[in-house]
Amino acid sequence: MADLSTTFTGIRFTNPFLLSSAPPTESDANIMRAFDAGWGGVVTKTIGLHPVVNVKGPKTKFLRADNSDVRLSMAKRPNSTLVASWNWELISDKPIDWWIPRLEKIKKAYPDRALIASIMAGSGNDKELNNWQMLTKACQDVGCDGLELNFSCPHMDRVDMGSNVGKDKVLCSVVTMAVKEVAKIPVWVKLTPATANIVEEAEASFRGGADAISSSNTFPSLPLIDPVTLDFEMNVEGYVSSGGLGGPAILPLSLAKMAQLTKAFPDKAFSGIGGIANFDHALCYILLGCGTAQVCTAAMLDHAIGPNVIKTLIAGMTEFMEKRGYASLEDFRGIRRDRVVAHSLIKRPEQFDYHGGYDEVEGYAEPVTV
Ligand SMILES: Cc1cc2nc3c(=O)[nH]c(=O)nc-3n(C[C@H](O)[C@H](O)[C@H](O)COP(=O)(O)O)c2cc1C
Repeated sequence: MADLSTTFTGIRFTNPFLLSSAPPTESDANIMRAFDAGWGGVVTKTIGLHPVVNVKGPKTKFLRADNSDVRLSMAKRPNSTLVASWNWELISDKPIDWWIPRLEKIKKAYPDRALIASIMAGSGNDKELNNWQMLTKACQDVGCDGLELNFSCPHMDRVDMGSNVGKDKVLCSVVTMAVKEVAKIPVWVKLTPATANIVEEAEASFRGGADAISSSNTFPSLPLIDPVTLDFEMNVEGYVSSGGLGGPAILPLSLAKMAQLTKAFPDKAFSGIGGIANFDHALCYILLGCGTAQVCTAAMLDHAIGPNVIKTLIAGMTEFMEKRGYASLEDFRGIRRDRVVAHSLIKRPEQFDYHGGYDEVEGYAEPVTV
C-alpha cells in the first residue's frame, strides 16, 4: 500500500490534500466533517480582528459553458460545464472570540489532522503589526499546527490589507517578520497572483522568515454582462466590484505562477492551489515541486466540504504511486520542475537558429541593403 503521508514545513499530514481557506472551512462543523471525509489538513477561513460585513446577496457564483455552444454564463442550466467560480466574499465574519474555543475543540478531537489557521490584519502601523502577533499567539496557544498569512484577498479597499500586502515587497517582509517574532509554529504566506513577478514577493516573504508559500488565491476579475438586461451577472443594485476567479479556469494560470516559484526556490516549500478537482490536477503541482495541494471551488460544489473530491484525490494518488512503484511523495515531487525553460531553449526545426529575439537580424527576412 502506498504511503500518502508527508511532512511539510515540519507538520505531519496523513495525506498532502488540504481544504483551502474559504467557505468549506468557515466553521468547526465543516472542518470536522472534512476530517471525517479524509482531508489531511485544512486551512481555516481567514480570521481577522476587524469587523466584516459582506455584500447583500450571493457572495459566490459559478460560471459555466454550454456543452454544445460557446455561451458562457452564471445562469444555472443543464448541459453545461463548470469554467470558474467567481466570489467577492470577505474574510470570516466571525470574530476571533468565536474561533478560538472552536479551534481548540477541533484540534483536541482530531490530533492527527493538520489545522492551519489563516489570519489577516492591516500592516500600516505598529498597532496593526501587533494585531498580526495577537492573532498568531491566540491560534498557536490553542494548538493550531501552523499559520497561513493572507496577503492575497483581492477584495480589500484598505491599501495595507489583503492582496495589497502581497503587492508590496516591503510589507511582505515586515509582516512576515512580525509574525515570526512570536510564532512557535510554521508560517506559510499565501501570495496574490496579481503581481508582475511573484518571485519577488516570495523572496521578500522568505527574507521575513516564511516557512512556505501558498499560491494561488483567486485572480482579480469581473462577472460577464448579460446581453439582455445589460446588468453584470452578479451585482447589487446594478453595481459590481472586482472579485476573484477560481476553479478550472485558473489551473493553468496558477501552475505558471507555481513554476516560477519552484524554479526560483527549488529548496523551499510550496503549497499549490488553483483549479484542483482531481488527482491529475494536484499531480501537476506536485510534479512542479509542491509538497501539499489545496482545494476550494471543487469542494464547495461537492457537499460543501468535498467528500467525493478527497476520495478521488486519495484513490488517484494511491493508484499512481502503486503503478509506478513510488514509496512516498518525495519520490516524484518536483520531477518536472526543470522542464519549464526559456522559450529559446525549446527545440526548433533543425535548419533554423533562434536566440530569443536577441539576434541582430529581426524577423524572417534579411535586411534590405541599398
Ligand atoms: C467564496 C470564496 C471565499 C474565499 N475566501 C478566502 C479566504 O478567506 N482566505 C483565503 O486565503 N482565500 C480565500 N479564498 C481563495 C481560495 O482559498 C483559493 O485560493 C482559490 O479559490 C483558488 O482555489 P480553487 O481554484 O480550488 O477555488 C476564497 C475563495 C472563494 C471561492
